[in-house]
Amino acid sequence: MTPSVLIVGGGAIGLAIGWELARSGADVDLFEADTIGAGASATAAGMLAPTAELSFEELDLYRLNCESKRRWPAFARRLEDQTGRDVGRRTHGTLMVADDRDSAEALRRQYRFQTEHDLDVEWLTGEEARAKEPFLAPNLSAAVWSPSDHDVDNRALVEALADALEQRGGSIHEETPVAAVEPDPRTPALRTADGERVEADRVVVAAGAWSSQLDGLNGAAPPIRPVKGQIVGLEMQVPFDLQHVVRGPEAYVVPKADGRVMVGATAEEQGYDEAVTGEGLFRNLEGGWEVVPGILDLDVQCTCTGFRPASRDHAPVLGPSAAPGIVMATGHYRHGILLTPVTAEEIARCILDDTVSPWLEPFLPTRFDGDRAGARPT
Ligand code: FAD
Ligand code: GLY
Repeated sequence: MTPSVLIVGGGAIGLAIGWELARSGADVDLFEADTIGAGASATAAGMLAPTAELSFEELDLYRLNCESKRRWPAFARRLEDQTGRDVGRRTHGTLMVADDRDSAEALRRQYRFQTEHDLDVEWLTGEEARAKEPFLAPNLSAAVWSPSDHDVDNRALVEALADALEQRGGSIHEETPVAAVEPDPRTPALRTADGERVEADRVVVAAGAWSSQLDGLNGAAPPIRPVKGQIVGLEMQVPFDLQHVVRGPEAYVVPKADGRVMVGATAEEQGYDEAVTGEGLFRNLEGGWEVVPGILDLDVQCTCTGFRPASRDHAPVLGPSAAPGIVMATGHYRHGILLTPVTAEEIARCILDDTVSPWLEPFLPTRFDGDRAGARPT
């Protein structure tokens, strides 16, 4: 028997889980408060960068990030073959660059840590880095080259996932906010803001930065808060032709397959404030300009804000929760696009086989149990 599953949230995570389940014959209904991709998934820079985004204290997360990166090519191929859509995966690699003595020292420390963990990185002088990427600033002193950190067009990804889910028989209900979930081991349910009650075998909470807001989760609500990110989209114009993702000390610059160049991003503790501010624009453009000066000649295409879903330990919250019948797939913070394949495949397996794979174990929602003070941000 294949199960019926209700999914709350139409970002990359909810859509990919829905697609994975529907491919196996599950009966999937996905509820999105707004339109698909309205959350962080369409705003993101789309980097698939486990190495460049490695933090010293996050080795479990690093392993999960690498595993998801490893699964990306097959995942993208499957999605593209099914839908005929191109998700704009680029494999030019990432340059982490330093523009002064302090940032060179920080980069050197990060490089030592990366090599201690056998990562695929190479130390370059400023000159060597510019030979690889001529649009780098002339004053850069050093760089770390990470050839296996790639990127994808996350907007195209969201659209392809929605198509793929519907082609496999799933239903997407846009502009249908879910107000509450009703946990139950056999037939959990959800209630929409319009008062409709829907039952199924499982309910998946993939509501991104809003995942702790649903009524009915009580002590099982994940401790998720929004971390605001402002990002600027520029339009690639001749002769500017940046090929590599460039990560500077204050900002990153990400060329996209569709001709955009994303420059970002701020990380602000501002609750759900959506404002694009002068300071946000200034910091992004200044930080980007310091490493890739040519961006200042490009037309601005968009300025946007997204909310990264951050848990208390900044790791994702994945798997069965203490609320019976409710499965969490949230808290992807800075890595949700990168983590889409592993999340979709492992959460689908968890629901279809009723097992928790070793990939999910470090990230189970129950690690926060007993820590109720943080369950719902005030
Ligand atoms: P979202 O995309 O936010 O989707 C959640 C959805 O749930 C939303 O559409 C929302 O409307 C819906 N929803 C909320 N509440 C309800 C409800 N009650 N009922 C129904 N629907 C509801 N990650 C990377 O891997 N690489 C990057 O380069 C990268 N860059 C980023 C840059 C910025 C500026 C930001 C903000 C994020 C970035 N991220 C990046 C992180 C990534 O965007 C997120 O981790 C990821 O998009 C989370 O996906 P999601 O589907 O969980 O959440
Ligand atoms: N991963 C990039 C960001 O969160 O801004």
